[in-house]
Amino acid sequence: VVFADYLKQTSKLIDEYLKNSLPPENLQKELIWEAMEYSLFSGGKRLRPILVILANQAVGGNLTAALPVACAVEFIHTYSLIHDDLPSMDNDDYRRGRLTNHKVYGEAIAILAGDALLTHAFYLLSSNLTNLLSGEQIITIIRELSTAAGPMGMIEGQTADLLSEGQRFSVKQLDYIHNRKTAALIKAALRVGAISGNCSSEQLNILTIYAEKIGLAFQIIDDILDLVGDEGKIGKKTGSDLKNNKLTYPNLYGLEKSKQMAQQLVQEAKNEVSSLFGDEGEYLIALAEYIVKRDY
Ligand code: IPE
Ligand code: IPE
Ligand code: MG
Ligand code: MG
Ligand code: MG
Repeated sequence: VVFADYLKQTSKLIDEYLKNSLPPENLQKELIWEAMEYSLFSGGKRLRPILVILANQAVGGNLTAALPVACAVEFIHTYSLIHDDLPSMDNDDYRRGRLTNHKVYGEAIAILAGDALLTHAFYLLSSNLTNLLSGEQIITIIRELSTAAGPMGMIEGQTADLLSEGQRFSVKQLDYIHNRKTAALIKAALRVGAISGNCSSEQLNILTIYAEKIGLAFQIIDDILDLVGDEGKIGKKTGSDLKNNKLTYPNLYGLEKSKQMAQQLVQEAKNEVSSLFGDEGEYLIALAEYIVKRDY
């Protein structure tokens, strides 16, 4: 299967599973589920759940066990976007091509929708995997994701990101922010995918290095698209980082150098996986290339 078709097929599987992980019709009429669904089904790229599945398949795992894990990761990611856009954070009005959650439901419901998505992710992990993975694997997956999403990962990164506003910090500080606010969850996505597929420790190590590199590259490109992206394509307004005086790659290195740095990271990521994996390795390589080529 060519990579573009693989992405389409996998996104479809993810969307179906996401729909099935919502409660029965009658409960969905509750406002909180409506607000959660509004952001979940509004055209995200599904990059992180795709990474879960790619890693699971690359190590020869069972797809059935990867799907609940993939969807939990997308729940966590979607929550992070709703909160990231709040007036007290980045204060953005558009996301995934529509008004942000708080613009439609108000701040209070948007905060709760984020809380609900985060909590429901861990509900899914602890209830939908019991016949598919061992208790130890499930606990490992929960530990990986809570580490990546919490104050040792994304939340620490988001905190440092907010504190960086208006400051001119060093390169080291910039990587500290990007590795935590974005790369941590991307890395965890690949790791939990591999764990759900019974990977060896060598496979896990290689996927981890690959993930750290594409994770940082992904945020560098996000910074670039915030400056020069097409709003129709990225589904959010450009200039958000400038408006908030954020510490970003283009702001420290300029556009050209930033792009080169992302390309360099992606090249290193590709080298990492080229030796160990077969067919699925080709998808990992294609995905790494997509990270720098993307325009949305
Ligand atoms: C946006 O992530 C937030 C970042 C960490 C850069 P994505 O660009 O993956 O957003 P969606 O899921 O496709 O909307
Ligand atoms: C977001 O970084 C990281 C998250 C954890 C959501 P950004 O603030 O740059 O993400 P966008 O550009 O709003 O999607
Ligand atoms: Mg932000
Ligand atoms: Mg933002
Ligand atoms: Mg951004």
